[in-house]
Amino acid sequence: MKNIKAIIFDAYGTLFDVNSAAEKCKDKIGDKWDIFSNYWRTTQLEYTWLRTLMNRHEDFWRITEDSLDKSMSVFDINPLMRSELLNLYKVLSTFPEVKEVLNRLKEKNYKLAILSNGTPALLNELVKSNNLDNIFNDIFSIEEVKVYKPHSNVYNIPVKKYKIQKEEVAYLSANTWDVSAGGNYGFNPVWVNRKNSIFDKLDYVPKYQVENLRKLLDII
Ligand code: LAC
Repeated sequence: MKNIKAIIFDAYGTLFDVNSAAEKCKDKIGDKWDIFSNYWRTTQLEYTWLRTLMNRHEDFWRITEDSLDKSMSVFDINPLMRSELLNLYKVLSTFPEVKEVLNRLKEKNYKLAILSNGTPALLNELVKSNNLDNIFNDIFSIEEVKVYKPHSNVYNIPVKKYKIQKEEVAYLSANTWDVSAGGNYGFNPVWVNRKNSIFDKLDYVPKYQVENLRKLLDII
């Protein structure tokens, strides 16, 4: 990759493990914890897309609560677990290599930023609880534009702020649809494919794919 000025990271699923909340409760939830967690995540994303299309914006915390309520009903989870799961969602763990890689990128003087559906308060808490303060130049939230990814107004946020060309951005996401959208927008996306998954058919094939963030250091 050449002429990269900013490295921009998706948050949920890319830096922070969205399954870590339910995983920490797996003794109470039982074997279904992972399909429940995947259902919660899928419903949460569907609600972001549907609300943007319906022009009925609510912030990501409200959507996280609403999608949890539906998922708990579908999987018959004890209602007493609700506040525990929500509290854990506020302090999701990072994937293991994240901190070390971010520190190494910071030493190389790239602009580092998060661009996420999360609210500023949620993202700040995630960064703080994982001791990632002082790493990012900016934490960009879609609350600035009140539409969710993959709307192009979202990907415009850092381009406008940094006054840079789209192709000067390396955009890291583990969410295939977010990689497709970022690529179609004009970023240089890198698909973080931790689970050897299959990519989308959405008019974009990522040039770069890594199995974890450490591999980014080899291609940047
Ligand atoms: C985010 C979701 C898409 O952080 O993972 O924006």
